[in-house]
Amino acid sequence: MILKEGRVLDPASATDEVMDVQITEGKIERTGPGLCDHFPDEESFDCSGLWVFPGLVDIHTHLREPGYEYKETILTGTRAAAAGGITSVACMANTLPVNDTAAVTRFIREKAEKEGIVEVFPVGAATQGLKGEQLAEIGFMKEAGIVALSDDGFPIRDAEILRLTLEYASRFNLPVIDHCEDLDLSRGGVANECATGTRLGMKGIPCVSESVVVARDILLSQWLGVHVHIAHVSCRSSVNLIRWAKEQGIPVTCEVTPHHLSLTVEDLDASGYDPRFKVNPPLREAEDREALILALKEGVIDCIATDHAPHDAQSKMVEFQIAANGISGLETALPLALQVGNKAGLSPSLILSKMTVEPARVLGIERGRLSPGKVANLVVFDPHETWTVDSKRFFSKGKNTPFEGWTLNGRIKMTLVKGEMVFLDENNPWGIPPFCL
Ligand code: DOR
Repeated sequence: MILKEGRVLDPASATDEVMDVQITEGKIERTGPGLCDHFPDEESFDCSGLWVFPGLVDIHTHLREPGYEYKETILTGTRAAAAGGITSVACMANTLPVNDTAAVTRFIREKAEKEGIVEVFPVGAATQGLKGEQLAEIGFMKEAGIVALSDDGFPIRDAEILRLTLEYASRFNLPVIDHCEDLDLSRGGVANECATGTRLGMKGIPCVSESVVVARDILLSQWLGVHVHIAHVSCRSSVNLIRWAKEQGIPVTCEVTPHHLSLTVEDLDASGYDPRFKVNPPLREAEDREALILALKEGVIDCIATDHAPHDAQSKMVEFQIAANGISGLETALPLALQVGNKAGLSPSLILSKMTVEPARVLGIERGRLSPGKVANLVVFDPHETWTVDSKRFFSKGKNTPFEGWTLNGRIKMTLVKGEMVFLDENNPWGIPPFCL
């Protein structure tokens, strides 16, 4: 097939031009102008006025299966991903059982093979049961197909255990994704520690509970010369540390979420104690959000990751203090990120690089690029269509979004995985009945 005359954006090759993309047997065959004239027998899709770019790579997703199928499954989570233009998801290990053995990794891979509609790359737990005490079976999990290690949801509290994790991980060529939180400093906290949080009567989680662990991780990374990836960076003090680390040449990378780029504790205040605004790390202050946006621009932040954390209604429709943390993010991530970029003067290519080639680089997977020979994971996107977020229409089981009712700009029209159409929007320009596999 040929995607005809779309604006092709491939941050990896600094491509931004109107041309055709030909796909054969799951791979990109060639790109260039006038391909339909050369290959008139090929099925073609007119993409004029639309953007064509590599399928997004989400380095931080919770798919919840096995164990929490009432929150999400591999099927529903990957359908949500496809609808959000995400064709590769790295799924976190805080399932039940935890993905800390090769058996669980194999289960996820086999299930994803059978039921998943986008590519699933499991992340293995760094420690058994995410307890931070004993290392998980890293080598066997690597053989079974994990692409990274993380105890996400929890920090690796013991610095010696983190050291061992980093040493083992580097032997197996696996990045370690660390959830940075000092559980003593954040104990009992439910919202950002600041004047607004205090006025709301909420026990605080201070920025330093994140940054103190970011600092530790940077120093260990420097000492060992081993890569560390910091999950969901949320505040200015962490960004400043990471900037310093990068200036020193320390092998640190990091990610930010669309919600930390879009919201602050003031939005939580305005929501009237709405648990949909409860997330860990918490929504911070305006100066933090500004620092995150600047850090994206400067390259201090490498990736935009959804931290898609779907929850069942019962876990969220309770008092703020006891509600679960997390935001269902796969289906809103791209328009939110582009909106933040647009307001801050960051180009679509820069935003897309943080959601394609950069996370693929951190994970060491050959994805997130659009050039001949690469896997045809592709998205066709209408940058002009505006739509209103309605969680009832999410493919995800997780309806927990603080963006309910927001008007967003830009809509996924078609998602291809290995050349196969897995999602087609209801309002598509080709007159084809919509579907999501
Ligand atoms: O808000 C969050 N939800 N933060 C995490 O670190 C874990 C996640 C989850 O698993 O629900």
